[in-house]
This record gives sequence, structure tokens and C-alpha cells, in this order.
Amino acid sequence: MPNEAITIQNLTKSYGQLKAVDNLSLTVYEGDFVAFLGPNGAGKTTTIHSITGLCNFNAGSVKIFGHDVVSEYRKTRPMIGLCPQEVNLDPFLSIEGVLIYQAGYFGVPKQKAIVKAHELLRFFGIYDKRKQDFRKLSGGMKRRLLLCRALVHDPKILILDEPTAGTDLELKYQIWAYLQKINEEGKTIFLTTHYMEEAEKLSKTVVIVDQGRIVLSGNKEVLLKNHTLEQKFLEMTRKAPAV
Ligand SMILES: Nc1ncnc2c1ncn2[C@@H]1O[C@H](COP(=O)(O)OP(=O)(O)OP(=O)(O)O)[C@@H](O)[C@H]1O
Ligand SMILES: [Mg+2]
Repeated sequence: MPNEAITIQNLTKSYGQLKAVDNLSLTVYEGDFVAFLGPNGAGKTTTIHSITGLCNFNAGSVKIFGHDVVSEYRKTRPMIGLCPQEVNLDPFLSIEGVLIYQAGYFGVPKQKAIVKAHELLRFFGIYDKRKQDFRKLSGGMKRRLLLCRALVHDPKILILDEPTAGTDLELKYQIWAYLQKINEEGKTIFLTTHYMEEAEKLSKTVVIVDQGRIVLSGNKEVLLKNHTLEQKFLEMTRKAPAV
């Protein structure tokens, strides 16, 4: 049995009366590729923020490779790379600087960080812009930089909050290929998405969340074979408000 990479037990996070995450329990094993699906407001980002220490939760526990994210955060945070839903880059740093600083937070020596940063910037096609600040990047390029930042300290777990939202097809396929490659090499990936195609193509495990609770989870192949996945996905889509 693989190690438990992320262990969430009875997690609850409320905003006033609203339970954004409601008694949620979930185990992600090392090497897995989890697609975390759910409608707007389902609690996906709040769950991610609880895992990564970006919000204080009310009850339950989250562990990363057995270490508690609250009492042992110095151990857990370097093990995670987060590609957030919103662009939150430092406007006073160059693109290269964003990556070198990020690596520095996790104790990666500068020379090593530069090598890794350049490798990632080259791969994601923004190497030529490395001396500029991020405001000069297009929306898709900012998403590439967020991905580079999540990866620069070589974390064991990569958490991606809608990484392909708003990207063009070429970048989407490039991100997919890259994620598949690093997952095959052993990285544990936890990805939220609204795209069924993305979940089908990439994941090994699918978890669907609605109103802060898990409504379906299991092996993707099994869920696809018995059509449970598309049924649940359609149910959720039908519930979405018309625009
Ligand atoms: N800082 C906050 N203060 C108050 N309510 C919040 C806050 N952050 C999130 N919420 C609420 O918590 C619920 C879950 O939000 P969350 O961002 O986790 O959803 P999500 O599944 O990531 O949705 P989306 O697909 O739109 O990104 C929503 O009802 C949201 O309005
Ligand atoms: Mg979200």
C-alpha cells in the first residue's frame, strides 16, 4: 500500500453560518492523480487553503505524509507546491525573481534555484521574458508562471486549483502532458477542475464535492465503466444556475 500523502479527517471550515467544507474526510495516496470536481462554491478552494495553511479551519485535521499541517507546518509546507486559482504574484519582482524567491522560502540554494527556474521557464515558453515583471505577461503566461512557481522547489505534492482555466488549447495540452509526465515520475497531484475532459484524461482518482461534502469518490476507470461519473457530473451541471 502506498504512503498517505494527504490525510484529511472530518475537516470543517465555516464562514459565519456557511459551512464551506462540511465534515470532509479524504485520503490521497502517494503517486495518485486526483481530480477534485464540483460546482462553483462547492468548497474546493477552501479545502485546498486548509491543506496549504492559507486558512484556519474550525474542526478536523489535515496531515501531509503523516505531519499535521497546523502543528508541523514547517515540515508540511515545503512538501507542497500550490498553483492557486487567482494570480497572486509579487509585482516588484522579475519573473525569474518570483521563482528564485519562492525556492529561497523553502531553503533551496540560489544557484540550484536558478537552474531549476530556467529549466521551467524554458519549458513553459517564458524564458525570454524572465527579466521583466509579471504585469507584462499575458493572462495565459501568468498561469504558466504560477505553475513554474509551484514546481520550483520540487515538492512531493502538487496542488493545482483550476490550472487550465482561461488557457489556450496549446497551453492546455502542454500542461496536461507535463502533469502526466511528472505524475509518472512519482509526483502526487491534486487538481481541481470544471472540465470533465480534463478529469477523464489525467486522473486516476476522482472526487466530486458539493456543498462542502464529498458526493462521489473512487477509481476513475471504475466510475467511468459503470457510468456513475458522467451521471453525477450531469446532475451537478443541471443544478448550476443558468447564465
Ligand atoms: N473568505 C471568504 N469569506 C466568506 N465566504 C467565503 C470565503 N471564501 C469562500 N467563501 C464561501 O465558501 C464557499 C466555498 O467557496 P470555495 O471558494 O471553496 O468554492 P470552490 O469550490 O473553489 O468554487 P469555484 O469553483 O467557484 O472556485 C462559497 O460559498 C464561498 O462564497
Ligand atoms: Mg475555487
